Amino acid sequence: MRVGDRWYRTIWLDDDGWSVLIIDQTALPGELVVLRLTEVEQVAEAIRTMRVRGAPLIGVAAAYGVALALRSDPGDEALRGGVGMLAATRPTAVNLHWALERVDRELRRLEPEARGAAAYHLAGAMADEDVATCQRIGEHGERLIRACWEALGHGRPMEVLTHCNAGWLAAVDWGTALAPIYRAHDAGIPLHVWVDETRPRNQGLLTEWELARHGVPRTVVVDNAGGHLMRTGRVDLCLVGTDRTTRTGDVANKIGTYLKALAAHDNGVPFYVAAPSSSIDWQLTDGAAIPIEERGGGELGLGADVPVANPAFDVTPGRLITGLVTERGVAAATAAGLATLFPERYS
Ligand code: MRU
Repeated sequence: MRVGDRWYRTIWLDDDGWSVLIIDQTALPGELVVLRLTEVEQVAEAIRTMRVRGAPLIGVAAAYGVALALRSDPGDEALRGGVGMLAATRPTAVNLHWALERVDRELRRLEPEARGAAAYHLAGAMADEDVATCQRIGEHGERLIRACWEALGHGRPMEVLTHCNAGWLAAVDWGTALAPIYRAHDAGIPLHVWVDETRPRNQGLLTEWELARHGVPRTVVVDNAGGHLMRTGRVDLCLVGTDRTTRTGDVANKIGTYLKALAAHDNGVPFYVAAPSSSIDWQLTDGAAIPIEERGGGELGLGADVPVANPAFDVTPGRLITGLVTERGVAAATAAGLATLFPERYS
């Protein structure tokens, strides 16, 4: 996406052709800082500390991390070590494990001397695939937004609520939940976005930053405002991302998503989840089995003597979700719904 007069992705190769450049998201929204990563350990640190974050992006970052790991030693042990180190960084987003399993499978069957170049090729292909996937989610989601806006009778801008940051910063480009918003805005559909602040890491401020760069009208609200906004008729549609969706349509997303879904359900507000297939865990049949990351209490910014808990994600059951916006179209948040779009996963 464009920032000022430059187009950015969130991850790319430096001119040397091998070192990996990322936007350090811990410096945003204050500063746009580009970091150069040259070791797999640096990629693992960047994922763990959320310099790179968002489910699709950490998957692609991990693929580049393996490529860096193999530069000095393309042998089986180094491959296993690099994959293991990256897999241990964050537990909830399934994209990380999806990407590492794919990279491991495809590289392991090659002779060691062929692995280095193949790893970079694969990471680049995964980055490009992610962009294409998000663009397709954008197309399907734009149709949804248009239909909702037309049902409103065009009398006023459409009001969309989003949680956390599922924009281009969370992916390689475009984003998942924000891609439909960008497309709808570009197509001239008047809309305004309520942006949940998303404590404790304030990813909502990343969303605000992105939307501002794109000229989309937006307002940041504290996390607890969503229920009030919905009850007073000021939200027409909720659209959020996902870090892991089960094959039955339960959705793990940033902590606080579940409460928004409950409020949407109670107030008859459609609640959609933008879910690339790379975020779908085809093994799991119950959201209760999704591992929930517990992050350090220091993120809450309270005194060291204050007992705190910091679960980073929650699970919204499929019954509260109006639909999943995937790259293949919109599906009901059920096994039967997903099976219509991904039959190969259910045969
Ligand atoms: O902890 P984060 O910031 O990596 O969390 C991921 C998210 O940004 C959200 O949960 C998002 O909705 C899913 S990623 C498109």
